[in-house]
Amino acid sequence: MATAAVGEPVIQMDGLSKHFRLSNNLFSSNKLIIRAVDSVSMTINRGEIVGLVGESGSGKTTLARVILGLTPPSESTVYVDGIDVAKASANDRKRLHREVAVVFQDPSGNLNPRQTALGSIMRPLRLHGASRAKAKERAREVMESIRMDDRYLHSFPHQLSGGQCQRIAIARALALNPKIMILDEPTSALDISVQAQILNLLLDIQEALSLTYLVITHDLNVIRYVSDRMAVMYLGRLMEFGPTDEILRNPRHPYTQGLLAALPVMNPKERAREKPLMTGDPGSLIELPEGCRYHPRCPRARDQCRRETPPDAAISPDHIAACFYPAD
Ligand SMILES: Nc1ncnc2c1ncn2[C@@H]1O[C@H](COP(=O)(O)OP(=O)(O)O)[C@@H](O)[C@H]1O
Ligand SMILES: [Mg+2]
Repeated sequence: MATAAVGEPVIQMDGLSKHFRLSNNLFSSNKLIIRAVDSVSMTINRGEIVGLVGESGSGKTTLARVILGLTPPSESTVYVDGIDVAKASANDRKRLHREVAVVFQDPSGNLNPRQTALGSIMRPLRLHGASRAKAKERAREVMESIRMDDRYLHSFPHQLSGGQCQRIAIARALALNPKIMILDEPTSALDISVQAQILNLLLDIQEALSLTYLVITHDLNVIRYVSDRMAVMYLGRLMEFGPTDEILRNPRHPYTQGLLAALPVMNPKERAREKPLMTGDPGSLIELPEGCRYHPRCPRARDQCRRETPPDAAISPDHIAACFYPAD
């Protein structure tokens, strides 16, 4: 298959859902349904960085797991590079495994505590048939990409700092020469000074290798720093999706407005004209309200919002907000 040109869609989903059924009681057959991902439509293009932001429990990791083929969707499908992830043949699965890499939040959880950095980086290579010598050579190459000295290849995770562990996890993700990286809270477990280093490293790698990134985080500052386009998720649904600059400058969904208003303001002059913060609890996926799931917390909610689910309405060709009454 020919390599796709820059800009064409590489990850596509339309109305994608992932629901979990839980027994609410050992002795009853009643099932609780958790709509962790509920009718999400999103396209990610080759070479861009899309940020996915949402409060904890909003379904971000579940969405990543569906894209990675680690769990099947309940409704609709995800296409990665034209392949239906859930129905991929063994050959296509192998190709996706090479092309789509992942880095999770927890640096120590990302790496096997009983394996040296070299062992961790070699593992995916060996699984894909590389000889021991070739795998070692590639490990040295990726250490260069993450700007770490070769001598760390012989360290175990407990001998490395959090930031170093995360670099090794990134090196391992790069080993198979992926085209797409899914980064799930890649810096959330790190000290703030190290966070910036890791984000800069990820940006340099993305540019040097023309990768496509999906960066998942609960931290709007990370999104602001790295992403070209951003998606805002609330209780399993996308509330807003569009160019990062545009959304940060002029958020149209009341939830995005609430999230931005909740960012701490450092400048005392700015603080004087602070917007009111979001009210109410983050809400629960188990007891989703009728209509728009954000309506109980929304200052703009009207009757229609309590009855009907808003569609993904176009604000402009590349900007949508799932709201009946988006802000001007
Ligand atoms: N395997 C599972 N079984 C049941 N519920 C799950 C499972 N995985 C995730 N969930 C639930 O789905 C919701 C979304 O979780 P998650 O995707 O981890 O959110 P986030 O990454 O945004 O914090 C949570 O309520 C979580 O408890
Ligand atoms: Mg998560």
